[in-house]
This record gives sequence, structure tokens and C-alpha cells, in this order.
Amino acid sequence: MRFQAIQCAVAGALFVSALLAQRNAGPASEANPLGHDPQAVAQGHELYNHNCTVCHGLNGAAGDRGPALGAGRSHVIRTDKALFEAIQNGIPGTAMPPFSLPATDIWKVVAYIRSLRATASDAFVPGDAARGEQIFWGQGRCGNCHMIRGRGGISGPDLSNVGGERTLESIRDSLTKPKQPIPGGYQPVEVVTADGRRLSGIAKNDNNFSLQLLDSHDRLQLFTAGELRQVLYAKQSLMPSNYDRVLKPSEFQDLLAFLSRQVVHKVERRRRSEEDDEQ
Ligand code: HEC
Ligand code: HEC
Repeated sequence: MRFQAIQCAVAGALFVSALLAQRNAGPASEANPLGHDPQAVAQGHELYNHNCTVCHGLNGAAGDRGPALGAGRSHVIRTDKALFEAIQNGIPGTAMPPFSLPATDIWKVVAYIRSLRATASDAFVPGDAARGEQIFWGQGRCGNCHMIRGRGGISGPDLSNVGGERTLESIRDSLTKPKQPIPGGYQPVEVVTADGRRLSGIAKNDNNFSLQLLDSHDRLQLFTAGELRQVLYAKQSLMPSNYDRVLKPSEFQDLLAFLSRQVVHKVERRRRSEEDDEQ
């Protein structure tokens, strides 16, 4: 008899916890069942702007009461499952409240948050990458200043791994908005030497005693303070910020598709650094 009673109690407890589990449908799997589906991301974006922007900012930016959920912050909550749980249960002890949205809607919001954080290479950027490559080396003249896999100029950063390092938003911003302040190592300068020559380029390793100038022919010239009569710092970076206007929308999209696919894989990176060590 007693055995039966225990069995009943166990069955009852299981039944109750099954009910609880149903009401509180947690994430069954670790990864988002909706994956990176662009439609889920778009719907998640709408749900986000509708439910979350009282505290977080529009489009994933920082808001009055909640942090930015997109890139640019070292996120405490990273995995799909942990994001799901933070939205469903809230974050105890903080102003982040629980939401009683249907599980699929929560997954859509998770897909949206992940799309904000993913690097461009994870973002499935549409467009014709081959045509984007032609624009990069051709009419865009990007190759005059940027190197990809050993080919190109050096006055701008090497872009061989830009898709693996940057989000799509940050790449788009680089092409359309001037960066202020100008990133370190890319300050354009014009100098007048003590003997009256005028040179322009980018200041590298600039301090009170000396200045290295990367000139327009990608040559590095070292000057001590005594050798320079004047140093003028430009207010704008050499990086043009009007590509959304000088390129047609489809060309701009193709260029983004090309840049987002520039990834140096881990193994390749290791091999390259080993080669460097051997030299
Ligand atoms: C009432 C204000 C409020 C609302 C509404 C709100 N949040 Fe939050 N949220 C916060 C606060 C505050 C934090 C920071 C908690 C902390 O200090 O860790 C936070 C943190 C988070 C985090 C963790 C941040 C990280 O990078 O680790 C996620 C994810 C998040 N919120 C998602 C959402 C989503 C999605 C919604 C809408 C469905 C939402 N929040 C609605 C206030 C809010
Ligand atoms: C006249 C030289 C010049 C040209 C032409 C140029 N860039 Fe740049 N670019 C720079 C410099 C210098 C920087 C770094 C300073 C800055 O971000 O303003 C930069 C920064 C960038 C960045 C940000 C990289 C990072 O890691 O922060 C991207 C992406 C980029 N350029 C892409 C392009 C593309 C694509 C083109 C062609 C459509 C192009 N650039 C044309 C000089 C140039």
C-alpha cells in the first residue's frame, strides 16, 4: 500500500512539473531552432522594437534604462539558450523584467539580437561578391589604400579579415560616416621640413621627439623634431565616407557582400604566424 502511495506522489509530482514545464516552456535545445533565418530576424526586430525599447534603445542601441544589446560591449549573456532564459525569466535583481511571450516569438527576438552581434561573415549578406571585388579594385579605388591577402596599399587597415572581425553595421558605417576621432595610427598630416619641403601622409609613431610619416608612395620617413618646421594635422580621415552616394545602391550592396566574405580562418592565421616566426 505504502509503495503505491509513493508511486502516486511521484506521478503527481511529475504531472505538476510537466504542467509547470509547459507553462514555462523553456528552451528545449541550446541553439536557436530558427537559426539565422532572415524572416525570423526581421520579425524579431519588430517584436524587439515593440516590447523592449521602453528600456533598451531602438534597433539594439543603449536606452535610458537598459544596455545596448548589439555589438560594442562585452556581453554577459552570449548563448542562444541564455538569451532565451534572460528574456523569459528576466534577470533577477535587475530592472530586466520577465516576458510572457510565446516561445517562437522569444526565439525570433534571440535571432534578432544574435544578428546584431554577429560578425559580417555570419550575417549572410546578400549581393554579388564577385562584382563587389571588381568595385574594390576598380572604381572604388579601395586597393590604393587597403590590402587584402598581400595585394594593395598600406595607408588604411588590412581588410583580409574584415568580415570575421567587424559587424555588417560597422563595415557599413566605415563606408558612409566619417570616424571621429580619427583612429590611432591613421592621422593624416602635412609637414614642412626645416629646409622647406612640404610632404603629406599619415603620422605613425608621433611623439614630442620624432614623427614617422607614411607618404603617398607608401614609404616611411623618419623626422626628428628639429628637422620639422611645421606639422599640420588634418581634421578628416583619408577614408572617404560617401560610398553610399558615389556608388549605385546595387554596387554598394555588392561591395558589402564582398567585404563580408573576407575572412582569414584560424588555421590559416596560425600557419601565417608560424611562417612569420620562421623568417
Ligand atoms: C523595464 C526595463 C527593461 C525592459 C522593458 C527590457 N529590458 Fe532587457 N535589460 C534591462 C536592464 C536594466 C538590463 C541590465 C541587467 C544587468 O544589469 O545585468 C537588461 C539586460 C538585458 C539583457 C542582457 C544584456 C547582456 O548583454 O548580457 C538582454 C539580452 C535583454 N535585456 C534583452 C531584453 C529584451 C529582448 C527585451 C524585450 C523583450 C528587454 N530586454 C526588455 C531592462 C529592461
Ligand atoms: C585614400 C585612402 C583610402 C581609400 C581610397 C579607402 N580607404 Fe578605407 N580606410 C582608409 C583609412 C586611412 C582607414 C582608417 C581610418 C578610418 O577608419 O577613418 C580606413 C578604414 C576603412 C575601414 C574600417 C576598417 C577597420 O578595421 O576599422 C573599412 C571597412 C574600409 N576602410 C573599407 C574601404 C573600402 C571598401 C574602400 C573602397 C570602397 C575604401 N576603404 C577606400 C583609407 C582609405
